[in-house]
Amino acid sequence: MAEAIVELRGANIQQGGRNILENVDLRIAPGEFVYLVGKTGAGKSSLLKTLYAALPLGGGSATVAGFNLAKTGRKKIPQLRRKLGIVFQDFNLLMDRSVEENLRFALRATGWKKGTLAEQRIDEVLMAVGLADRRRSMPHTLSGGERQRIAFARALLNSPTLFIADEVTGNLDPDTSKNILELMRKLGKEHGTAVLFATHDYRLLDTFQARVVRCEGGRVFNAEG
Ligand SMILES: Nc1ncnc2c1ncn2[C@@H]1O[C@H](COP(=O)(O)OP(=O)(O)O)[C@@H](O)[C@H]1O
Ligand SMILES: [Mg+2]
Repeated sequence: MAEAIVELRGANIQQGGRNILENVDLRIAPGEFVYLVGKTGAGKSSLLKTLYAALPLGGGSATVAGFNLAKTGRKKIPQLRRKLGIVFQDFNLLMDRSVEENLRFALRATGWKKGTLAEQRIDEVLMAVGLADRRRSMPHTLSGGERQRIAFARALLNSPTLFIADEVTGNLDPDTSKNILELMRKLGKEHGTAVLFATHDYRLLDTFQARVVRCEGGRVFNAEG
């Protein structure tokens, strides 16, 4: 069996020292697509934040993209995050900069030098999300779905091994939500990237069959969709 991208064993997920989720076991294989569901307040975002080291592990063991979270100090966190493509409900685009400037900014922030390679990478990720023609557009001229695709393109820049998607369809209408979900699965497949897709919208689970992990009552359950 290939090494897992995510491996939690008896992990406690905490906010302010209080357990939000207890004794969590979760294993995600390379390239696997997993829905993470649960009502608002069930702990989905807290679990995801623990995975990208925005919250400290409250106990147990956790490995993400080869990093042992219990031993990953602050200096190593940027290295961990470079292995992850993190996308949120609010696209977090710089509204006063064009699409390509947003992507250049993200490349610069993760250690890329200006130049041909960087520009090629921008072309590649825009092509991957079907928005190569929007390279010079300003974010306010894009629809919500297009903005989210730009956020996906940005998440792709460093060829992550895991996409972490936290309510990425929260601001989108139902049809656009399904398109975005399909795109996320397609990107995962094409790039061999595992996806952990958190949503409180159970209707989205009808889009396609995939493993479902559920947060409820302070526990995490591996359930069938
Ligand atoms: N910054 C915070 N400080 C303290 N408690 C928080 C914080 N953020 C969330 N919580 C609490 O953690 C619990 C889980 O929240 P969250 O992980 O955001 O759930 P979900 O993403 O499933 O809606 C809730 O009880 C919430 O009130
Ligand atoms: Mg949340």
